[in-house]
Amino acid sequence: MITARAYPDIALIKYWGNRNNALRLPAAHSIAMALDRPSVEIDIEHASVLMIRSFDEKGTERILTEKQLERFRIHLELTKKYLASLGYEHAIPASVSFTIRSGIPPSIGLASSTAVFGCLAKALVGLLRDTVALDLQQQSIIGRFGSGSAARTVYGGFVAFIAEDSDALDASSVVQIAPQDHWPLHDIVIVPDHTEKKVGSTEAHALAGTSPLFASRVEAIRNRRQQECTDAILNRDFEKLSAVVEEDALDMHRVMQTSTPSINYLSPETHRILREIEELRTREHLPVLYTMDAGPTVHLLCTPDAAVRVGAFADTQKGCTIFRAKTGPGATLVS
Ligand code: PMV
Repeated sequence: MITARAYPDIALIKYWGNRNNALRLPAAHSIAMALDRPSVEIDIEHASVLMIRSFDEKGTERILTEKQLERFRIHLELTKKYLASLGYEHAIPASVSFTIRSGIPPSIGLASSTAVFGCLAKALVGLLRDTVALDLQQQSIIGRFGSGSAARTVYGGFVAFIAEDSDALDASSVVQIAPQDHWPLHDIVIVPDHTEKKVGSTEAHALAGTSPLFASRVEAIRNRRQQECTDAILNRDFEKLSAVVEEDALDMHRVMQTSTPSINYLSPETHRILREIEELRTREHLPVLYTMDAGPTVHLLCTPDAAVRVGAFADTQKGCTIFRAKTGPGATLVS
């Protein structure tokens, strides 16, 4: 049996919208920072039929819905097809059985599916290692079949997900912009609401192209934002990072809101937290930035010297759950 571990990441330039929904090939580049908690672990072995069990951090079994099971089935089918395209059609002779143990609340904007499919890709690569040597790019492609953003979890630190002009199975790649120890930023995560979102990101990605703002967002990433974010990371320039990350996050949420049908992941609580953090950073000159993925959850990224103050702010948020994470290591094999 093989065990792998992975963590969520937080997108700095958001992946939103696909050029190919079935293969989760992104319409534009993105960048994320890997986190070091909460974690998910997967134990995997070969099996005659697909068997999946899932447990939360307290050890309580989560019964998977038919839709969730179907997502895993499709992931395995695409993985087998990809392995066949590499000449390894017999690497998974029948199926696999795996157990997920996740400390990440699902569907609230904390990248749970990123971590799960990043972990599953690493576990599969580990399971096959005696017959097939798959490199990190190939592992990233296997992750992407389950969740586009899972492509990025092969590296720790700061990772770019590169979109390509092709619909081939392997038409995406990832690049590590900088390793985990390059810039140890903190991510103080404020979860105002644990209600699982009504529209999952898989369905929502498919609506992105209906927004009149989508094309200009893709252009802005291609022409400017991806490079500005990369430079800010390489130069450890927090002010530049804040400007581009907040611009891109708000732009993604505007694309969501102007899609047909409209999707709004942000709640009144999210907006209140944003107003308060803007006031706090102006008043106290704090190096802190905000960003939100597909959920009301607010990620406050800050430099280590601001972490105590930002953490204290988070602790005053009534009825919210707080997670504290830092720049993380990406998916790893545990055994
Ligand atoms: O990988 P998915 O399908 O869960 O999409 C992730 C979408 C965002 O979290 C909103 C942005 C991102 O780049 O992670």
